[in-house]
Amino acid sequence: MAYYSGDLIEEVISQNDIVEVISEYVVLKKSGRNYMGLCPFHREKTPSFCVSMDKQIFKCFGCSEGGNVISFIMKIENLDFWDAVEMLAERANIDTSRFEVKNYYDNKKDTQMKDLKDTLFNLNRDVGIFYHNNLIELLKDASNPVKDYIIKRKLDIKTINKFGIGYATGKIPLYDHLISLGYTKDDILASGIIIENNNGKMYDRFYSRIIFPIFDIRDRIIAFGGRAFSTKVLEKTIPKYVNSPENDIYHKGKTLYLMNFAKREKLENIIIVEGYMDAIALQKFGFTNAVASLGTALTENQARLIKKYTDNVIIGYDQDGAGQAATMRGLDILANHGLNVKVLRLDHDDVKDPDEYLNKYGAERLKKCIESAISLVEFKVSILEKDLDLENFDSKVRFLTGVSNILAKIDNNIERDMYIDKIAKKYGMSPGPIIKEVEKGLTKKSGNDVFVDMQSLNKKMQLVTNVRKRQEQYIVALLLSKKPAIQQEIVKNIKSSDIDNEDVRKIFDFILSLMDNYDINKIDILSKIQDEDMVKEITDIMYIDISGYENKLLQDVLKNKKKEKLYARRDEILKRLDQDISKDESEIIKYELNQIVIELSKLK
Ligand code: CTP
Ligand code: MN
Repeated sequence: MAYYSGDLIEEVISQNDIVEVISEYVVLKKSGRNYMGLCPFHREKTPSFCVSMDKQIFKCFGCSEGGNVISFIMKIENLDFWDAVEMLAERANIDTSRFEVKNYYDNKKDTQMKDLKDTLFNLNRDVGIFYHNNLIELLKDASNPVKDYIIKRKLDIKTINKFGIGYATGKIPLYDHLISLGYTKDDILASGIIIENNNGKMYDRFYSRIIFPIFDIRDRIIAFGGRAFSTKVLEKTIPKYVNSPENDIYHKGKTLYLMNFAKREKLENIIIVEGYMDAIALQKFGFTNAVASLGTALTENQARLIKKYTDNVIIGYDQDGAGQAATMRGLDILANHGLNVKVLRLDHDDVKDPDEYLNKYGAERLKKCIESAISLVEFKVSILEKDLDLENFDSKVRFLTGVSNILAKIDNNIERDMYIDKIAKKYGMSPGPIIKEVEKGLTKKSGNDVFVDMQSLNKKMQLVTNVRKRQEQYIVALLLSKKPAIQQEIVKNIKSSDIDNEDVRKIFDFILSLMDNYDINKIDILSKIQDEDMVKEITDIMYIDISGYENKLLQDVLKNKKKEKLYARRDEILKRLDQDISKDESEIIKYELNQIVIELSKLK
């Protein structure tokens, strides 16, 4: 377990040129002092993703993602902060052992986090072994309902061992076992495997359940799923699945079950199914590229994770209504991340999911279904068709409009024409009306395909950022100017309460607090920020190029501050004059008001 000093961060940043690193993922084209490309974090046709060589940061002016080289690797590789640092250290051949610290107080905040995470990984491993051993013991028993169930589900011993499948009785005291292994109560509760009730009694989250350990990409157990081997217990219906809660190491939306087994250098495709049992069955039958999304809608993070290994996915969700709705949502997310998406259609209605299909009809037959998986467009059209009676005229018109909407979203002209042809033939229509409708949809989309340069992007940004906020961003830009005299003037004259915009104020406060402990001109400020919105805001500001204008801007900022103070006082006086006040007071403040007006006119 390694703890690193913060110096490693600076070393990693200085040894990994951001343009080089990002070029490994994105095609970049030089544009003035910057490099532009298509953003890997959202789908776009015209580049708004900008990498700055000078500032060593990136920013997408489309989706506003931004950060330094570490943030980039975290996002694109789906890694934690320290994992990203390690990866970049390796890339630059940095000997990380030089930066290891013995004492976690040396680097308290970051190492504490790493410490808890490591503890949770270890604890989960021990829990996994515990459940697994339980199951192995049970299987030795000649007659046991759990054993019957395992046999019924066709889980052989090889599969049980490979995927670490276990059983939780809930009767053998797991809590005591973990304590005896040296884990603290806090660690155990943080794992979510044991729950403390209001009376301080500890009980197991999983009891009478088949246990599936959920692994991360590096084979570490991050959570568990437990399936009731009977969903009826004493005539009461219990939930079919119980899962670990999310915590520091488990983020449901970032995980794909069995991805650690599926991942390989260049995968032809990945099959995504819904359930534990589906992914396991597929892997068992030789479809080692199968993963499961575990019953939830696919997320952007999962799309990015897949994109690391392949460009092609096949979705094999349950054939019921819920499965299809989930498929729809998932398809679009995947497609938006540039993945080619196909949908698996099982050629039998009497089975619900790939697991049942495999056990009933076998692998050869499923392979055929996989080979004839339909495209995203075909799938959407087929869903549209299902709800409509194509003999009916109104329905037919609705179908035509729906189809045209789907087709208008296809970017590639040749592909689009192919589909028009195919669909016209399939539904016995003439292509003319479809083409017309599609064209209507196409003109609605803005046809602005020119290469965008930094200048126009900056203009675009300026339009959306209002003048007031922009003024306040200048204050932060001056703080980041690396010019000590300017920085000191800002610190001396501007208070947090002078800044209206909440996002900018947060950054301002943060930089001031950093100044208490660091020389901000020497550290990498971005790596100190955890909050994503703050990273977005500060990278916006970092892109404002103020070099050469620092003094002028400082004067403006100070002048504005003074003006605002005067305006505030003027309003106060005007209000006071409206009230019932003494003649003396009235004279005095009227004089003051006069002075203010004169001063303000000088400041214009
Ligand atoms: N799921 C869940 N909680 C539930 C129901 C489902 O977390 N109450 C998740 C599980 O990851 C499950 C997946 O959704 O594997 C798919 O659910 P379902 O199709 O109902 O179950 P199967 O995986 O087919 O499980 P089985 O074959 O054992 O019935
Ligand atoms: Mn199933």
